Amino acid sequence: MVRAEYRVDLSARYLGEAIPHPIGKGSGQLSLNEGQLEEDARAGLAFVVLKTLIAEDATGARAMAAWAIHETRMAVERRPSADGRPGWTVTWKGRGWDRSLSDYLALVRAGRDLTRAGRLLVVPSVKYHLPRLDESFREAEYRHTTAALAGAWSEPPLLVEKDFSPTLAGDALADDRAQILRWLQEVPRQIRSASPMPVRIAVKLMNARFDDAFQVEMIRATRGADTLVCFNRLFDSKLGLAYGGWDLSDRNLRVLDLYRPLPTSTDLYPYRPLPTSTDLSSLSGTGNITSGRMLLEYARRGCESAQLHTFFQLALSEYPATQGSRTARVLHALVFHPREGLIAGLLELEADGELERRGGELHFLDVTQRAHRES
Ligand SMILES: Cc1cc2nc3c(=O)[nH]c(=O)nc-3n(C[C@H](O)[C@H](O)[C@H](O)COP(=O)(O)O)c2cc1C
Repeated sequence: MVRAEYRVDLSARYLGEAIPHPIGKGSGQLSLNEGQLEEDARAGLAFVVLKTLIAEDATGARAMAAWAIHETRMAVERRPSADGRPGWTVTWKGRGWDRSLSDYLALVRAGRDLTRAGRLLVVPSVKYHLPRLDESFREAEYRHTTAALAGAWSEPPLLVEKDFSPTLAGDALADDRAQILRWLQEVPRQIRSASPMPVRIAVKLMNARFDDAFQVEMIRATRGADTLVCFNRLFDSKLGLAYGGWDLSDRNLRVLDLYRPLPTSTDLYPYRPLPTSTDLSSLSGTGNITSGRMLLEYARRGCESAQLHTFFQLALSEYPATQGSRTARVLHALVFHPREGLIAGLLELEADGELERRGGELHFLDVTQRAHRES
């Protein structure tokens, strides 16, 4: 409909899969059951990442068990940024999937059916064992969990997102830079060798509690990921909480600028992109995406899709549409808002000479290609 009426092609990509537009749901409390997936499919969402499962071995042992805690209370709150802009955050003390592996596999099978039917791309998310420097990886957990997911998915390739969460960033495990870099170098290979079928891997990077330069180092250190999700929420160590809002998008966009300088401002940045294996990873953006315009900020830095959580949780009165499901209202606001929507933003990029029509149409993916070409 967007294509025919506005001559705008919103086609996008996540984990190498073609999707009709870039808007998806990030892993979390909004992808816990089949009902949520069905509503998202009906509303026309492009993809959903399921809640993060904590990996286990054949005996049910989980090295990361501390992340499988149960917590239901969430509060959507205003969180002003460091410079005072009012933004939204969700305050929540929970962590990963808190039910059984077999319950999770049932959800994966439901997601697989929606994916096969072409209604909604659904991808599982896992937190696997992350060892200290002097420890080895618990391969039995990687093998058992990945094989279980592959069994539920049944046809290659298996798609999986690996979560490095903000609570991990806040944990003593992540105090050591060398330890984090080792995880990023080795985890995709561990998952790949644990999988009984070809697998595509998205690595969702945490915002480590170090400076922007280290965040770029983390991107460059990651080996063998098909996609990098940039970047999970910030961690407030005083409150012991993950948070989002403008501080999160400021940080994420700043780091992506350092990694792939924007075409117009290459000389301003001290870091030159070096050719590494991660140049082959595509990018997916996450963090404070509450408008089509913000989504385009991530796209201009190379992100081919977007994973939202907080914007799905606002009071219904915050969305311009007055009817339809919550997901439908989110999509309507992000795509059609006359000033802040994706279509308005793409037309503005065209007017500014940053985007050209091909075959009479504007293409969302051209925005991301430009970031690749000119870096
Ligand atoms: C309540 C809540 C639970 C979340 N749980 C997970 C999770 O289990 N795994 C994960 O990878 N990300 C999780 N996230 C992160 C989101 O998927 C998303 O990347 C992040 O919140 C930034 O996007 P936003 O600013 O649109 O919320 C969670 C976020 C929230 C708010």
